[in-house]
Amino acid sequence: MTQHLPPLGQAGIPAHVAVIMDGNGRWAKQRLRPRAFGHQAGVKAARRIVRASHKAGVQVLTLFAFSQENWQRPPTEVSLLIRLFVRTLTHEIASLHKNGVRIRFIGNHDDFPEELRKLMADAEALTGANTSLTLVIAVGYGGQWDIAQAASSLCRDGLPITPEAIESRLVVADLPHPDLLIRTGGEKRLSNFLIWQLAYTELHLVETLWPDFDETAYAEALAWYASRERRFGRVPEAS
Ligand code: IPE
Ligand code: IPE
Ligand code: MG
Repeated sequence: MTQHLPPLGQAGIPAHVAVIMDGNGRWAKQRLRPRAFGHQAGVKAARRIVRASHKAGVQVLTLFAFSQENWQRPPTEVSLLIRLFVRTLTHEIASLHKNGVRIRFIGNHDDFPEELRKLMADAEALTGANTSLTLVIAVGYGGQWDIAQAASSLCRDGLPITPEAIESRLVVADLPHPDLLIRTGGEKRLSNFLIWQLAYTELHLVETLWPDFDETAYAEALAWYASRERRFGRVPEAS
């Protein structure tokens, strides 16, 4: 399990940042507004962080937009989130493409409307050759689902299930594991995000609600990451 490990020592700029964008509902509640208001503000925060990642030289940004468990929210909220996602994607795709962003969607998309699945496929096809920032959007994603689909595909091919083999069949097998995970909204849990890929990720868990997470908060997260010493179970080089 060494193929994804970056070098030991001082961390620097993370190649891959993953974000659990949490706290939209509470942000709206603080303002006595419906949860939808918080999700709309959350889209603006996401746009800011995509731009800031690009500027900072981050190579991969993965945003957790909708978990498999989020299907259990009231149908009105689920359909609102889907509509907001369709609208955002439709509006943003041209400018993301112009800025050289390559878009990928990960998750179980079987239950998403055909219109959305087509939009996602078109966005991936349009931006597939771009090289500035890879933006991975996790929708309908669950870490347990990811590991299970990797294992099933190995079984189907009659191959032994080893960590390396599972690794090679995960939905983002070609990308490095996240170096830095940011979770906003104060919870100290992974909520079934990239549970395999986060094995050695540095965890930055902040109270800030996602719609309030701005360039300054992101710069703080990157500075915190840069000061980490990564050891991956080994001892520091000078010891
Ligand atoms: C995160 O914000 C957005 C999604 C899960 C889609 P929440 O909607 O979970 O907001 P809180 O946690 O209720 O404040
Ligand atoms: C995690 O947030 C999922 C996303 C941000 C998309 P949740 O609000 O769903 O997580 P829990 O329920 O607090 O664990
Ligand atoms: Mg939440």
